[in-house]
Amino acid sequence: MTTLYQGYPGYFISFEGIDGAGKSTHIEAFCQLMKERHPARDIVITREPGGTVLGEQLRGMVLNTPMNLETEALLMFAGRREHIAQVIEPALKAGKVVVSDRFTDASFAYQGGGRGLSLDKLNQLESWVQSRPNGSLLQPNLTILFDLPGEIAQARRSKARMPDKFEQMDLQFFEKVRQEYLRRAKADPQRFHLVDAARTPEVIWSDLQSLEIDI
Ligand code: TMP
Repeated sequence: MTTLYQGYPGYFISFEGIDGAGKSTHIEAFCQLMKERHPARDIVITREPGGTVLGEQLRGMVLNTPMNLETEALLMFAGRREHIAQVIEPALKAGKVVVSDRFTDASFAYQGGGRGLSLDKLNQLESWVQSRPNGSLLQPNLTILFDLPGEIAQARRSKARMPDKFEQMDLQFFEKVRQEYLRRAKADPQRFHLVDAARTPEVIWSDLQSLEIDI
């Protein structure tokens, strides 16, 4: 545990993708695999919106209540601030591996790409909420992006449970969300690992197994 990532002894992984891309199917198995491969490391699995008592309460509100776009973004980032303070930073400081089902890329993709909030405002919120004392921004070391055309994701979603507010959005919304995720992945290829989520779960799983993570 001598390597420092962004100044922390821990390591931070996020899973991202449009609703229906299948990330949640793989996240637990992925954490299990990490435990087997790195028995000396504690793995913390968490999610956004959520991850803390307050965050889970906010999740219930933002996923189910129609609201002004800026209110929605502020609540996402309020929950994130709490999540960072209570869960993510303490775990990273203690040398743990944090695996989060979504983080800030989702705000850029959904509130920015999907709903049209300006990137400038999102950048301001990000720098407010994720700034560290050394002036850097807290970011995942690795982001696994499940990429899938909106139509396939929609067909998969319709087989799932009762849709929340976002899951009810139309195809055009999800295409915009997807394009924003892809734009961010292209802008930061060192951090992103792109998974072609149109393939079968078995093939996706073997892709994840072959991912070499240097922690
Ligand atoms: P989940 O169903 O994958 O847990 O995600 C919950 C929903 O919240 C999903 O539709 C994406 C949305 N979301 C945002 O719109 N902005 C955010 O910042 C986050 C973290 C999630």
